[in-house]
Amino acid sequence: MSNFLERVNEVTQGTLVGVAMTLAREVGIFEILAKTDYPLTSNQVAVAGGLKERYVRELLGCLSTAKLVQISETENGDFQYSLEDGTEEALNGRPGAFLGFCSVMASVFDSVKDCIYKDGPISLRYTDQLQEVLDRKSRINAPGIAKIFLEQIPDLKTKLEEGIDVIEFGSGKGRLCATLAQQFPNSRFVASEAVPDLVQANKDRWAHIPNLTFSLDDLCGIPEVPDKYYDWVFCCDVIHDLPDPVAALQGIKRMLRQPNGLLTFIDVSTSGSPLVDRGDMTVASYYALGTFFCIPESYQRHDSLALGPCSGRQRIASLAQKAGFQVYDSISENKNPSQSIQVSMDVDVSQTSPLSMILDLE
Ligand SMILES: C[S@@+](CC[C@H](N)C(=O)[O-])C[C@H]1O[C@@H](n2cnc3c(N)ncnc32)[C@H](O)[C@@H]1O
Repeated sequence: MSNFLERVNEVTQGTLVGVAMTLAREVGIFEILAKTDYPLTSNQVAVAGGLKERYVRELLGCLSTAKLVQISETENGDFQYSLEDGTEEALNGRPGAFLGFCSVMASVFDSVKDCIYKDGPISLRYTDQLQEVLDRKSRINAPGIAKIFLEQIPDLKTKLEEGIDVIEFGSGKGRLCATLAQQFPNSRFVASEAVPDLVQANKDRWAHIPNLTFSLDDLCGIPEVPDKYYDWVFCCDVIHDLPDPVAALQGIKRMLRQPNGLLTFIDVSTSGSPLVDRGDMTVASYYALGTFFCIPESYQRHDSLALGPCSGRQRIASLAQKAGFQVYDSISENKNPSQSIQVSMDVDVSQTSPLSMILDLE
């Protein structure tokens, strides 16, 4: 078979099995297998999960054939299933978090398809189901991101300990902001979102954290004279989702308390060129997520820039520059940017507002 046919087969088969794996996870099959230290038959799994045995058997057939679940045969010819080593680590870690996107992709498939046609709708905003998946991802990432912030942004820890005003824009379900607010009770945190229901849900969810409040803001519509100023503004995977990132960055700049107000944002780091990234399946996956989620989300207006997650590190840095931030790209020499988390930090805080970009692609 030609290399190209092999690749098409590989991708197609991986997709089919990946969707089945997502379904198996969502109905609890992995959880049930993880709870016992002996192998289970499909019937035992079905009984434990309140599931129909025939469906369970088919899914386990798929997963065991694909070597994602172990299979053995009993003396009377029944099949028994158990977890492969490392399953829990994978499903509770980054691969599992990304697997979560499969079911959301399936649920928005037709709507995104409609958006693609010229005369179809332009936008599809994030669904609750997607925010749920992002929150699960955040449960894994938030402690690590908080640590990176504290280790890589000079004096941030000291300032947060002393007490500063902080806002996170596009906070999603608010986990990262809540994590930091709990860690630094002397600072005042605001978790901001553009979606009213999400702001209300976050208010209820994090009501027990006294130094965390909530606000509804459209980042692309920050007033010329802001109501409030902040010492530190941060956002995570938001800039590329905005219809007008430059206006948003300019708005943030107006909100920074001078002279030392700081903006930190995390975004995906790619070369920006599918030619350069050719063969990198992680980047390819981000283009897929971009098609289903980021592009439809950012088309909040007809004139959206619609960057998508793979517009490239340099493009994002240049937009920040255009908005008046000085960008010192400490990693532009990095030959393999997808290998590490990169920090780019303004060094001259006297003339322009400082910016720290943390561009991440693992
Ligand atoms: C990829 S999600 C990131 C959510 C969260 N920060 C995280 O890392 O899980 C992008 C977020 O940006 C928010 N957003 C989209 N457009 C916005 C706008 N115009 N102003 C403020 N936030 C916006 C969305 O509601 C969404 O929660």
